[in-house]
Amino acid sequence: MTAQRKDDHVRLAVAQHQASRDHQYASGRYAGAFDDVQFLHHALAGTDCDRVSLRTSFAGRTWPVPLYINAMTGGSPKTGEINRDLGIAARETGLAIATGSMSPFLKDPACADTFTPVREQHPDGFVMANINANTTPEQARRAIGLLDANALQIHLNTVQEIVMPEGDRSFGHWPTAIETIAHAVDVPVIVKEVGFGLSGRTVTRLAGLGVAGADVAGRGGTDFARIENGRRPSGDYAYLEGWGLSTPAALLDARGRGLPLLASGGVRHPLDVARALALGAHAVGASGPFLTTLVNDGLAALIEQLTSWIDQLTALMTVLGAHSPAGLAGTDLHITGALREFCVQRGIP
Ligand code: FNR
Repeated sequence: MTAQRKDDHVRLAVAQHQASRDHQYASGRYAGAFDDVQFLHHALAGTDCDRVSLRTSFAGRTWPVPLYINAMTGGSPKTGEINRDLGIAARETGLAIATGSMSPFLKDPACADTFTPVREQHPDGFVMANINANTTPEQARRAIGLLDANALQIHLNTVQEIVMPEGDRSFGHWPTAIETIAHAVDVPVIVKEVGFGLSGRTVTRLAGLGVAGADVAGRGGTDFARIENGRRPSGDYAYLEGWGLSTPAALLDARGRGLPLLASGGVRHPLDVARALALGAHAVGASGPFLTTLVNDGLAALIEQLTSWIDQLTALMTVLGAHSPAGLAGTDLHITGALREFCVQRGIP
C-alpha cells in the first residue's frame, strides 16, 4: 500500500511538471508568483565573475552552493533507485539533499535500503532525513541514525492529509510534538511545508518550539492537493488545487520572524533561485523539476541541469553585483501584480 502510494506520487508529480513545462513552451512565457518579483536593473552594478562565491551557511554548516534537492521519496524498489540517482547528482554538483518521508522505513525496516543510497552516494554531503510530526523521538533518532543525517526535516501537510482518503485527521498536537522532537534529537530540526507555504505567523510559532530553521515550501510547483485528488476515484477536492501561499509571498511574510529560512516550491529556473535568495532565503530547493528531468531524461541530464543552474546563478549574481547569496538581499527589487497586493494587505513594506 505505502510502496504503491510512493510510486503513484512520483508518476503523478512527473505528469504534473511535464504538463506545466509543455504549457510554458507552448505559450512562450512563464507565469507564476516569482514573475511578480523583478530585479531593478542597474547597468553599472556588475561585478567580476571570479569574485562571486555561491557559499552559504545554514544549520551550522557551510554549503558550497545555495541549492538543494528537496524531500521526495523512498519506500519502494523503484523509489530506491531514484534516491540513488538523486544522491549521485547531489554529490557530483555539491548540492544538499533530503530523502522523502521515512515513515515507510519506520513501519518496515526492511525498506531501509531504499533510503540509504542517498547517504552512500553522497558521503560528505549535507543530508536531511524527513519525518512527519506524528513521529516519536525514538523513531526520529532512528531515521537520523540510518542516514547519519546532518539535519532533520519535519513536514507539515494538513491539506495533503485531508485530501488523502487514508490521511490523518488530527493535527492539534503538532506544535507540542515538534517541540518534543526538536529537544530530543542532536541535529538541527527544519520544519517544512509540502507545497502550501509557511506563513509569518507559523514561522513565529515555530521559532518558539526550538527548531533551527524553516523551509517555506510554497505554492507554485508540485501541488499535492492535485496529486492526492488524482488518487481519489471521486476527485471530490478539486477546488483545493492551487491552495496556499506562493513561495515569494511566504518568504515576504515569514522573513524577520526569528528563524533562518529555506525556500522551495515552484522554483523553475536560476532566476527564481536568485529571486528567492533576494527575498531572504539562505538556500533554495526544488523537487518536481529535478525529478522530472531524472525520470524523463536520465541521470546525466540531471547532473547537466544542476551544473547549468550553478553556472547561470553565478552569471546572474555577476550582473547584479552580488558577491554572495546573502549579498542578493541588498539588491533593489520591484514587486508587482498579485504579490504587491498581498504585501499591501499584509502591511509588508
Ligand atoms: C514531495 N514532497 C515531499 N515533502 C516532504 O516533506 N516529504 C515527502 O515525503 C515528500 N514527498 C514528495 C514526493 C514527490 C514525488 C514530490 C514531487 C514532492 C514535497 C517537496 O519536498 C516540496 O516541498 C514540494 O514538492 C515543492 O517543491 P517543487 O516540487 O515545487 O519544487
